Amino acid sequence: MKMSLLGIGFCGENCLELFSRVMFRELFLMAGAVWIGVSADAAGPEGTSQERVWKVDDFDAVLFTGLESYRSFDNGRRVFRSAGCAKCHRFAGDGSIDSVATDLEKVIGNLPPREILEAVLEPGKKIPPELAMSLLSLNDGRTVKGLVMKRSQSELELVPDLRKPGERITVRKASIRNEEKVEGSPMPKGMVDRFREEDVLDLLAYLLSGGDPKDAVFRK
Ligand code: HEC
Repeated sequence: MKMSLLGIGFCGENCLELFSRVMFRELFLMAGAVWIGVSADAAGPEGTSQERVWKVDDFDAVLFTGLESYRSFDNGRRVFRSAGCAKCHRFAGDGSIDSVATDLEKVIGNLPPREILEAVLEPGKKIPPELAMSLLSLNDGRTVKGLVMKRSQSELELVPDLRKPGERITVRKASIRNEEKVEGSPMPKGMVDRFREEDVLDLLAYLLSGGDPKDAVFRK
C-alpha cells in the first residue's frame, strides 16, 4: 500500500490504473501463480474478451523495465497475422512481395521499443512523406485518394488501398484540378484494441525479435 501510494505521487494522474496493474501482477507472482498462464486462461484463445483503446502510456512500466524473458513467439505471430499487419507490411516471411507500406524487416532493428509501440498504437505521429496518401480532385468533380506510386509526364499511378498493392489506378494529369497530401497515417488506428495487454506485449516482442523464435525474449 505504501508502495502504491508512493507510485501515484511519483508518476501522476493517469498512473493509478497502470500502477495497480503492475501491483496486481506482483501479487500474482508473490502468490506463486504464473501470471502468463493465469491471464491466458482468463480470455479466450482469440483474446477478444475486452476492447480498449491502447495508448503508449499504458505500457510505460514495461517500457521502463524492459520485456520479461517469457514472451510467446507463437502468440506474437498470431496477433501480427490476425490483426492484419501482414496485409500491408512484410515481416518474418509474412506479407506480399509487392507490399507498399514500410518493410518492417528493414526498419525494425533500428526502432526502439517505444517507437514501435507508438507506431502501432498511435499511428501517424511521424509519417515519411513518401508514404503519405494524396487526395486528387478531378475536373469532373470526382476525388481519388491513394498512395502515388509513379509519376510520368502525363499520368499518376496510385494504390487506393494499401492492403491491395496490386490494385492500381491510373489518372491522367490533365484531368487533375488539385492535389493535396492527406494528413495522418494510412495505417488504421486501433488495430490491436481488441487484444489483451499480454497480446500487445507478445506482438512487441515478436517485432523486436525480428521474427526469431530463439530470441532471448522468448526464453522460458
Ligand atoms: C493499411 C495498411 C497498414 C496496416 C494494416 C498496418 N500498417 Fe503499419 N504502417 C503502414 C504505413 C503506410 C506506415 C508508414 C506510415 C506511418 O509510419 O504511419 C506504417 C508504419 C508502421 C511502423 C513504423 C515503421 C517506421 O519506420 O517507423 C510499424 C512498426 C508498423 N507500421 C507496424 C504495424 C503493425 C504491427 C501492424 C499490425 C497491428 C500494422 N503496422 C498494420 C501501413 C499499415
